[in-house]
Amino acid sequence: MNGVKICCLFVLFLETVYYTEAIERTINTKVGSIKGKIGTVQLPDGTSKQIAEYLGIPYGAPPVGDLRFEKPVPAAKFNQTYDALNYGLPCPQYFKVDNVFGLTPPSLMSEDCLRLDIYSPQTSGSKTYPVMLFIYGGSFTTGHSSTYNGQNLAAYGEVVTVIINYRVGPFGFLSTGDDQAPGNYGLWDQHLAIKWVKNNIDSFGGDASRITIFGQSAGGASVAFQTLYSGNKGMFQRAISESGPANAEWATSSKEEAYLNANFLALKFNCTIPQKQASSEILRCLKSVKDFSLMAKYASAVNNFRWAPTVENDFITSQEFQRIHQQPPSAKSFAQNFDIIIGTNGYDGQYILSALYPAVISQMKMVPIGMLRTIMRGAIMNFLKPLSSNNKTLTALVDAAMFEYSNVKNPNDRNFNLKQISDFVTDNVFFVAAAKDVANHAYKNDRTKTYQYEFNHAYPVLPPGNEWLQGATHGGEVPYVFGFPSSLPGYSPQIAQTVWPFSKIVMDYWTNFAKTGNPNKPRNVVTEWKAYNSMDEDYLYFPMTGTTEAGRYLNARRKNFWLNYLPQIVRRGTESQNVD
Ligand SMILES: *[C@@H]1O[C@H](CO)[C@@H](O)[C@H](O)[C@H]1NC(C)=O
Ligand SMILES: *[C@@H]1O[C@H](CO)[C@@H](O)[C@H](O)[C@H]1NC(C)=O
Ligand SMILES: *[C@@H]1O[C@H](CO)[C@@H](O)[C@H](O)[C@H]1NC(C)=O
Repeated sequence: MNGVKICCLFVLFLETVYYTEAIERTINTKVGSIKGKIGTVQLPDGTSKQIAEYLGIPYGAPPVGDLRFEKPVPAAKFNQTYDALNYGLPCPQYFKVDNVFGLTPPSLMSEDCLRLDIYSPQTSGSKTYPVMLFIYGGSFTTGHSSTYNGQNLAAYGEVVTVIINYRVGPFGFLSTGDDQAPGNYGLWDQHLAIKWVKNNIDSFGGDASRITIFGQSAGGASVAFQTLYSGNKGMFQRAISESGPANAEWATSSKEEAYLNANFLALKFNCTIPQKQASSEILRCLKSVKDFSLMAKYASAVNNFRWAPTVENDFITSQEFQRIHQQPPSAKSFAQNFDIIIGTNGYDGQYILSALYPAVISQMKMVPIGMLRTIMRGAIMNFLKPLSSNNKTLTALVDAAMFEYSNVKNPNDRNFNLKQISDFVTDNVFFVAAAKDVANHAYKNDRTKTYQYEFNHAYPVLPPGNEWLQGATHGGEVPYVFGFPSSLPGYSPQIAQTVWPFSKIVMDYWTNFAKTGNPNKPRNVVTEWKAYNSMDEDYLYFPMTGTTEAGRYLNARRKNFWLNYLPQIVRRGTESQNVD
């Protein structure tokens, strides 16, 4: 769907006070000597552990000058000890001020941003730990590693936690739709960071033969794209894609859309764009722009603020892309080289509504009950427009969706109707695409495992006005995956103690998977999470209650509605048009 801005999380992790620095630690690595620090992490249950931190390590050369809009190149070796004591600066980015979380663009940014942070349980000796490498979300236009705090996950989960930065917005994804500027530099950055970790993580206490990449939203889609790229063979073993399916419409830009965005940006900088060789002129002109923060700002004004990966037949090949889009699945894909966990949140759609259509939510809370359906109809129409330009067909689609989502058991319950519209958006923007990713990964797969989840455990403190939300919105799993660090908004030691048992359950599944490829061991889990297969479609559910439930055929009726019923209406519409 158009206009979706998959953005930032509920959560904002800042420097924590629950970490006391003790001593510096310098280690020798293949790229030179690196100085980090060892500190004590205090977990919400009062226990404490020592971990080592190495922040802001450059893995790529500064992608500046002629390297802007190009694949990254590895960073040079350090000639003297590198002080990895502070986060690197965020890559150039710009958020619109009206974003729901009230976040503002970082004031300090740099194009020299290809850096990563490492949190390691190894503080001495030579014991190694499995590695979990996190890729942030933020619509492919924002994000910074320092937003996430890997201390608790490293300390409790006993994994080396790595959080990487990659280029976003035009810096990461500008494409002219041809060979001049094919795009996907941000995905190449991620790949380079993965390769760096594969080659160097043993020096930090990481086990290079057990690397799991994980990410949320645009980061989840990035994870999914990394599993499609053949150059990643052997670079990592497993992947976790949280609310970020490769199949999502928002996860890629067409070549035409990408070209229009590049052209728009070039015009903003008064570039001359001749009819012939327009692409090379756009590229030349935009490479020469000095003011990167102005570029980030102008880039935010493109249609839909969308800078996303493109199928450029290099990182993402059209063959792999088609394979994972087939429905029902009919071919194996390269992604089957990796075990994978794919999941979505019960209220992922709530986030899209509140970010893009806040009026829908506020009107549904206020209008007379008799008008609820009118509001829903308008919203549904907006989301379904891309499916058909034919007025009659569109009306039929909207009628069908109104029946499916608003013909509810209690039509006079506003909160229930809000849930229904949220479900509609969840399915349209996240869930159905994720279900396709799951089915494709599991198709005739006898080599690796597929696990599916639905997460619906709400964040304990929600901003006012969200009382109707009885589950997890977009990004709602992230605080639990990271062990509820003390820097969260609304954090208090009491809340942390309350959520800690559940957070441990989540971290146990995630880190078990990183350790063995099986989320159920080595640590004991409360409910067995069965691998998905096309017959039984097992999944794990994380409900509000603070435990877990095993389930089968997740949202099967809703999935069927989108995958089989709606396409039938579109097909019939097209056929009757051809007859006319
Ligand atoms: C280290 O020294 C070499 C040779 O002088 C130089 O090319 C390289 O850029 C230096 N590395 C760094 C990280 O400064
Ligand atoms: C482009 O040209 C206009 C009109 O001359 C000017 O106002 C604007 O500042 C220029 N933009 C840039 C980025 O130089
Ligand atoms: C469909 O046609 C009707 C009648 O002409 C019109 O009122 C309505 O706005 C049209 N809807 C769309 C989506 O174009």
